[in-house]
Amino acid sequence: MNFTNSVVGKKWMAIAGLAWFSYIIFHMVSLLIFHQGEQSFNSFYQQLNQHSLYQIMVVFLVMLFSLHVVTAVVRQIANNKSKGRGYKKSYPHEIPRVAAWSGASILFIFIIVHVVQLKLFVNDHWYQITVELLSQPLMLAFYLLGVLTLSVHLHHGLSNVLQTLGITQRSYHYLAISISLILFVGFLSILASVVL
Ligand code: HEM
Repeated sequence: MNFTNSVVGKKWMAIAGLAWFSYIIFHMVSLLIFHQGEQSFNSFYQQLNQHSLYQIMVVFLVMLFSLHVVTAVVRQIANNKSKGRGYKKSYPHEIPRVAAWSGASILFIFIIVHVVQLKLFVNDHWYQITVELLSQPLMLAFYLLGVLTLSVHLHHGLSNVLQTLGITQRSYHYLAISISLILFVGFLSILASVVL
């Protein structure tokens, strides 16, 4: 048994997912400053980028992202190779495998393109760049798709964690839906404020 398919590998995948989940809450809440206008938004990101702790967090996020993706892919390949259909693990909540992987692939592409667009080439004027980007119909559609697939992926991930912990009560599943929905609406509010 190799690392990615071992219990340790699964644990790291969950830790990486959880770290990203925390970051996404932080990112969505900080993006809401966008509604306060250009000056507040730019000065927030200017101050944030001056903290070395923040830069270290971004490096950790990239490492955990790679770990999460590689573990997921290796586990899927190992699962596909399992002898006989009876040995194949079914996907949680009967989500068709192809749908889950298409969503994850779109999210993967979105995160890479987004980080390149807003992190690697922007060190000032975050507000103006965001407005310019989201004013292009194609980019707006791309961001909408990214935010949508993120919410679905998060709901799937949170439900998975609950299932692993043996929590099957309906109320917890409503909680997973509510968290994903709140994040979706928060990100959507930025897209809407540029368009409307
Ligand atoms: C309305 C949608 C979004 C807008 C307007 C937006 C805006 C931004 C901005 C302005 C930055 C640059 C921050 C900096 O330089 O410090 C950034 C970075 C980043 N965003 Fe987003 N974002 C959006 C959605 C998302 C989503 C859905 C994800 C995750 C799936 C995400 C992940 C990241 C990551 C990983 C970074 C680089 C790390 C960082 O600087 O915080 N973003 N985003």
